[in-house]
Amino acid sequence: MSMSFIDLAAQQRRIRGQIDAAIASVLDSGAYVMGPQVREFEARLAVFGQAKLALSCANGTDAIALPLMAWGIGPGDAVFCPSFTFAATPEVVPWVGATPVFVDILEDTFNLDPAKLEAAIAGVKADGKLAPKVVIAVDLFGQPADYPAIKAICDREGLKLISDSAQGFGCTLEGQHPLHWADVATTSFFPAKPLGCYGDGGAVLTNDQDLWDLMDSFRVHGKAVAPDLVGRTFDHDTKYLNTRIGMNSRLDTIQAAILIEKLSIFQEEIDLRQVVAHRYAEGLKGAVLATPGVIAGGVSVWAQYVIEHGNRDGLAAHLKTQGVPTAVYYPVPMHVQAPYAAFPRGVGGLPVTEAKAETVLALPMHPYLGEADQQRIIDAIRAFNG
Ligand SMILES: Cc1ncc(COP(=O)(O)O)c(C=O)c1O
Repeated sequence: MSMSFIDLAAQQRRIRGQIDAAIASVLDSGAYVMGPQVREFEARLAVFGQAKLALSCANGTDAIALPLMAWGIGPGDAVFCPSFTFAATPEVVPWVGATPVFVDILEDTFNLDPAKLEAAIAGVKADGKLAPKVVIAVDLFGQPADYPAIKAICDREGLKLISDSAQGFGCTLEGQHPLHWADVATTSFFPAKPLGCYGDGGAVLTNDQDLWDLMDSFRVHGKAVAPDLVGRTFDHDTKYLNTRIGMNSRLDTIQAAILIEKLSIFQEEIDLRQVVAHRYAEGLKGAVLATPGVIAGGVSVWAQYVIEHGNRDGLAAHLKTQGVPTAVYYPVPMHVQAPYAAFPRGVGGLPVTEAKAETVLALPMHPYLGEADQQRIIDAIRAFNG
């Protein structure tokens, strides 16, 4: 009997009535773009993420691009980020004409290594060709990066800090959400994400009203926003007064309405994910090279449960025969992908990233993974080891 890698249907069965009603209310209202549910969801999301403000947008990739655009990051600027991440993290950097600088990760958490970050910044400064401007830390597989250490480096070097929390929205460190340290925290509502919608969506959280206004302008074709209108009158829709070159990156009202319902059960789902992660950690003791280590004081939202195994591909093939789906995040690090291979790498290269790409294997993970199915996965892994 096969099982799901991420069982979105189980969640849908639970809240289908509320979702149907939420979608129907948008259909009835006719406000398909920027309807009232968008603002309502932004307000609720900000509260959940301990932020003053949230700005929704079309996807988690644009969510990283919007602050870069608003800060005027461009040619000659260096943006430091991990290579062990989804393409979206580095992809937005060349969009604005800046240069991603790839930094290695920590052995146990897969997240940005603060010491390697410091060395990479020093290397770029010594080289003198690029100006260090921004760090993008990724909350990979759901757990917070080492924000206190990364933030201290950013403060010392005068760098902006983005938390790419597409996989980690809802994670905390010492009870604080990543925005406690970062200038912005971004997320994705791709359906498989811990907080996902039924299509594409994303958001940026910030405590900075001026930045929110600017990003609001960029997400709607550079429309005039309040600060642009100081000292002048414009009697038409401000969408037709374009004060900068922007883009179209709005969250659909239907997706916002769906997300309001999903957000209402999100904390409970995060708690359920802890139970599943704990069962894996106990059941797989001694059976794999490593089960995931979580940073001290951190709570992961477990977007993925990623183990390491010396014969990763053999184990994946075996699990497939047992009806257990798995996935490899990420088989090819970004710094060796063809379009990114010429971008700079931190001092000493990325040996940890390259080694992890050979051993990582993500197991089925979602809040509704039952004990019997999970035991089957654990038994199958143990049986493969013999
Ligand atoms: C780490 C990370 N950053 C950014 C994104 C981009 O999100 P989206 O697919 O919504 O553009 C994703 C997910 O897809 C991701 O995993």
